[in-house]
Amino acid sequence: MGEANTQNNNEKSSKSSLNLIPVFIMGKRYEVPETLTIMKAMEYAGYKYIRGCGCRGGICGACATVYRKPDDYHIRIGLACQTVVEPNMYLTQIPFFPANRASFDLKEIGKDPEEVFKRYPELFRCVACNACTKVCPMDIPVMDYISAIKQGDFEKATELSFDCIQCGLCAARCMAEMPQYHIAQMVRRITGSKIKPKAAHLHNMVDKIKEGKYDTLIKELKTMDLDKLRKLYQEREIEPAEAPEDWEPQSKEYL
Ligand code: SF4
Ligand code: SF4
Ligand code: FES
Repeated sequence: MGEANTQNNNEKSSKSSLNLIPVFIMGKRYEVPETLTIMKAMEYAGYKYIRGCGCRGGICGACATVYRKPDDYHIRIGLACQTVVEPNMYLTQIPFFPANRASFDLKEIGKDPEEVFKRYPELFRCVACNACTKVCPMDIPVMDYISAIKQGDFEKATELSFDCIQCGLCAARCMAEMPQYHIAQMVRRITGSKIKPKAAHLHNMVDKIKEGKYDTLIKELKTMDLDKLRKLYQEREIEPAEAPEDWEPQSKEYL
């Protein structure tokens, strides 16, 4: 009991030494430390994430959030795991935005743009308002990739949309009611599988795996002492970030 009290007192004094600011989460006022991200502030306020939180690193797109600041008409957006709270922000998270997603079997369809057009006719309802681009937390030119898709330029659309994290904020703002990110995903899949040249080295490697070239090695790794495995992992040769196309590791034993 005494220990619990001491612990509670310590927690209280460490909380009271934090600089707290007011934020409004779904309309209710909370005092939270000013250095927290929205996600951590919500947890600090007592919310428990079951949905709307995945990677916590700005990659998965699960934590789209909208907020407003006092005396400012702008609707602001951010990823809850990346955006730091500000005094008096009114916020709510939109972990999921309903959006139609066409079904298709990639093996059954070709690369004709019609394949996309007939599944997503709403593409042609775009009024070029650019609201999707303005709202995108990844700074993707959403309207431009939609425009490229309409023109049948799938390679351009793939390049432009490549960093999409599927957060759904563009769909939330679209007056043409289109699910831009699902459309772009279909286009990227067609581009990757039917337009871009095949990656021969990847097929070679898959063939070698199927032929059993790495079976012994994998078995060895799976039964290896944990410390030895950790050391092996830490000392492995890593491809440099700026490696040229023809980079190869010094040891070619497992190529
Ligand atoms: S394109 Fe849309 S779904 Fe993708 S990151 Fe931007 S706003 Fe989110
Ligand atoms: S928000 Fe919708 S209508 Fe506006 S530019 Fe983007 S795709 Fe087109
Ligand atoms: S939790 Fe994955 S992007 Fe925020």
